[in-house]
Amino acid sequence: MTDPQIVLTERVQQALANAFGPEYADADPLIRPSQFADFQANVAMSLAKRLRRAPREVATEIAAQLSDFPGTVEVSGPGFLNITLDDSWIATEASQMFEDPRIGVGTTTPPQTVVIDYSAPNAAKEMHVGHLRTTIVGDSLARTMEHLGNNVIRQNHLGDWGTPFGMLIEHLLDIGEDAAVAQLEAGMGTEYYQAARAKFDGDESFKTRSRLRVTTLQSGDPETMRLWHVFMDATVRYFNKVYGMLGVTLTDADIAGESMYNPMLEQTCDDLEAAGVAVLSEGALCVFPPGFTGSDDKPLPLIIRKSDGGYGYATTDLSAVRYRVDDLKADRILYVVGADQALHFRMVFAAARQAGWLPDTVSAEHVQIGMMLGKDGRRFKTRSGESVKLMDLLDEAVERASAAISERGYDAVLQEEIAHAVGMGAVKYADLSVSHDSEYVFDFDRMLGFTGNTGPYMQYATARIRSIFRRGGYELAALRGPIKVDESAERALALHLLSFGAVVEQVAALAEPHRLCAYLFETASLFSTFYEECPVLKADAETRSYRLALCALTLRVLETGLDLLGVPVPERM
Ligand code: ARG
Repeated sequence: MTDPQIVLTERVQQALANAFGPEYADADPLIRPSQFADFQANVAMSLAKRLRRAPREVATEIAAQLSDFPGTVEVSGPGFLNITLDDSWIATEASQMFEDPRIGVGTTTPPQTVVIDYSAPNAAKEMHVGHLRTTIVGDSLARTMEHLGNNVIRQNHLGDWGTPFGMLIEHLLDIGEDAAVAQLEAGMGTEYYQAARAKFDGDESFKTRSRLRVTTLQSGDPETMRLWHVFMDATVRYFNKVYGMLGVTLTDADIAGESMYNPMLEQTCDDLEAAGVAVLSEGALCVFPPGFTGSDDKPLPLIIRKSDGGYGYATTDLSAVRYRVDDLKADRILYVVGADQALHFRMVFAAARQAGWLPDTVSAEHVQIGMMLGKDGRRFKTRSGESVKLMDLLDEAVERASAAISERGYDAVLQEEIAHAVGMGAVKYADLSVSHDSEYVFDFDRMLGFTGNTGPYMQYATARIRSIFRRGGYELAALRGPIKVDESAERALALHLLSFGAVVEQVAALAEPHRLCAYLFETASLFSTFYEECPVLKADAETRSYRLALCALTLRVLETGLDLLGVPVPERM
C-alpha cells in the first residue's frame, strides 16, 4: 500500500507508542491534507488533554520519534505537525506503482461475497430514468468490488410478478402474441400497460378474465406460464438493449426477479408466524419490528400477508434476504434502490434480523438513490408530463455528443464510435459524480460539457495523454520507469497518484462511486498543470523518459478508474 496518508498514519502511530506507551499504538493520528505542507497530523491537540500536557510539547515529542522519517516534520501553531514527504520517497513509491500491474490497488482478504441488488425495473412498465441511476451506480459498485477480488453476485430484482400480470396476459391474448412481442421489444411497455389498464377499468368482462388469469398464473398453469414467459422474454430483450447501449455488465444470468421468490412466500410467512415474529393484526399477517412507529405513535406494521391472502413487496424481500444469506452465502448485501424506499428496507432488515435470517456478521445496506429532477427542479418528465423513455434519452445523448464532435473531421465509423462513448460516458459520469443519495438535475448541456467534472472532460484527458505517445511514436507497453519528481507539478501529480488504491478501497467500503469521480477529476486537473509546466516530448532524453513514465502512470490510473465507473474511454477524441 503506497497511500501516503496510510503510510503516515502507521508511522505516527509507532511514534505515539514509542513516546507515550503501547496503549497509544492505535490512536488516530488525524492525518489530513495541509495547506502548508503535504499533510498535517492533528493528534497532539487531542492527546494533550488526555496526557495533561501542553499540545506543543506533545507534538514536539512525537516529532522527535519521527527521526528516520522519509520527510520533514515541523511543529507549528498550537501543536500541529506539518509533514512534508521527501521527493525521493514520492519518486520511489510512484516508480514502484508503475511496475505494479495493479497500480497499487490491493485485494480484499479474505474476499467477500457481495450481493448487489440493482437496476430492477418493473416489467409492467417502461424502464424509466429512475432505474437509470440504480443501474449505473450499481454497476459501478459491482465492477469496483470485483476488481478488489470479491465474489460479486449481481441480482436484478425485476418487478415481474403480481396481480397486474393477469390483465397484461389477457391483453396479450387480445392483441395477439406477435403484436405484443413487437411492442414490448420496442420499449413500449408503458403504452402496453396503459392499454391493458384502460380495458380493466372500463370493461367488466376483461376485468373478470384478468382476475381469473391471476389465479391461474398463481397456480402455475402451464399455458398461462407460457404466456407469461412470452411477455417477460420480450420485455427482458428490451431491457437488454438498454443495458447493451449503456455498457452495463448485467446479463440474463443475473435476473432474480420477484417471480423467483413466489414459491417461497408461503413458507416465509409460516416460518415468521411460527417463530412468533409475525402476528395477525386485523386479518393481515404483520411483523412489527421494534423501534418503528407511525405518526400516531402506534407500532408500524410490515405487512407480509394481506387479509385477502395476497403477498406483497415485503414478503418477497424477506424471502430474498433469506435466499441471499443461506444460498448465496452473502457477507454483504447492497440494495441500490431509490431513497424513497428507505423505510421499507429499514423495516425489512429489522424484521429479518428479528427472525434470525440476517445474522450480525452479514451487513445489509440500502444504497439510497436520490431522485432525478428536471431543470425546473421537479421530477424529471417530458413536456407533456409523461415520464421520459430511457432509450429516447440515451439516443438523444448520443445525437448531442455527435453534434459536439462533428467538426473534428473523424471518418464516419470513428465519429459514431466516439459519439456513442461520449454520449454514454456523459450520462453515466453525471449520475456517478454526485453523491448517490442526493437529488440530481438531469441537464444535457452540463453533462456533455468538455470542461468541469464531466464524462467528456475525463475522456478527453485520457485521449490527450494517448496523443502524446502517438505524436512521439511511443508504445505505451514499451515505456519504462523510473519516475522522478523534480518540478513541483510533477511532485503534486505523483503524490496524488499514490492514493489511487486507497480511494478504490474507500469507494467499495462506503459504496460511494462519486469519491472516485472526484479523485479522477483532481488527477486530470493535476495532469493539466503538469503538462502546461513540464514539456514532455521536447525535454532532454533523460527527463523525457521520467515524464513519459509519469504520463503513462496517470493514463493507467485514469483508464482503470473510468473502467471501474463503467465509463467508456475512446482512444481518440
Ligand atoms: N422494482 C423495484 C422498483 O422499481 C425495485 C426493486 C429493488 N429491489 C428490491 N429487492 N426490493 O421500485
